[in-house]
Amino acid sequence: MTILVVGATGKTGRPLVEQLLGKNYKVRVIVRSSHNLPAEVLENPNTTVIEASVLDLTDEEMAEHVMDCDAVVSCLGHVPNLKGIFGGPRKLCTDATRRLCNAIEKNRPPKPVKFILMNTVGVQNPDLGEKRAWFERGLLTLLRHTLPPQRDNETAAEHLHSTVGKENKHVEWCIVRPDSLIDAEVSQYDIKESPVTGLFTGRPTTRSNVAQFMTELIEDAELWSTWKFQMPVIMNSKSLS
Ligand SMILES: NC(=O)c1ccc[n+]([C@@H]2O[C@H](COP(=O)([O-])OP(=O)(O)OC[C@H]3O[C@@H](n4cnc5c(N)ncnc54)[C@H](OP(=O)(O)O)[C@@H]3O)[C@@H](O)[C@H]2O)c1
Repeated sequence: MTILVVGATGKTGRPLVEQLLGKNYKVRVIVRSSHNLPAEVLENPNTTVIEASVLDLTDEEMAEHVMDCDAVVSCLGHVPNLKGIFGGPRKLCTDATRRLCNAIEKNRPPKPVKFILMNTVGVQNPDLGEKRAWFERGLLTLLRHTLPPQRDNETAAEHLHSTVGKENKHVEWCIVRPDSLIDAEVSQYDIKESPVTGLFTGRPTTRSNVAQFMTELIEDAELWSTWKFQMPVIMNSKSLS
């Protein structure tokens, strides 16, 4: 299998790429700088590095990079500093999702390509009428209007849900919603259809667990058919102390 990963230099993208290479998959990464990739990834013969800022690629280049891929994963996220949060590109996740999906469709692959989007538990699944306490709804509305990354995560998910849709011949998708991210070794985790905790009472989610779940979605057809066109919430089974 060949998998394209964007956001491969990030804290979730990196363990994802390592896990995929560990399973002998061919992995293409689009990164702003290859210096941000570990030597083991760069030296692995199954790695193809495309050095570019993903949104600077032309439509033709994008189509070339998704060609023959079985899955495309976006672990993109805004750099957590003032420039990353309030500067451009404000629609990083949305525009990358839209353009990558358009590129897949343009190639008309013989079987649907899996598109996995790293998102957040702060985005709701419109299919399930997910309910939150009034103060959490108020906070999410405030974040939507003040923090561009929250809005970006929402519109990226909306694009897959409403524009790509569930009847698409070429793209199948899954939107993975972690709770608060932490760094630790892979551990046990739970996957739920919807959030089971409040915004302030959630359990942390280890980034390597997110990577592991994404890897399993790619390789396990049954797991994929369970979660395709859904927005699974992932969190650690236990709080790490
Ligand atoms: N923090 C939390 O608790 C939390 C909770 C739930 C969900 N999330 C979501 O999780 C996602 C990613 O989390 P993470 O911690 O793994 O992210 P991260 O470590 O910050 O990685 C972000 C990735 O995006 C790339 N990137 C950033 N700006 C870019 C740009 N303008 N053009 C191209 N690439 C760009 C970075 O590349 P460079 O290496 O080149 O900068 C990096 O590969 C985000 O969507 C976030 O909203 C976060």
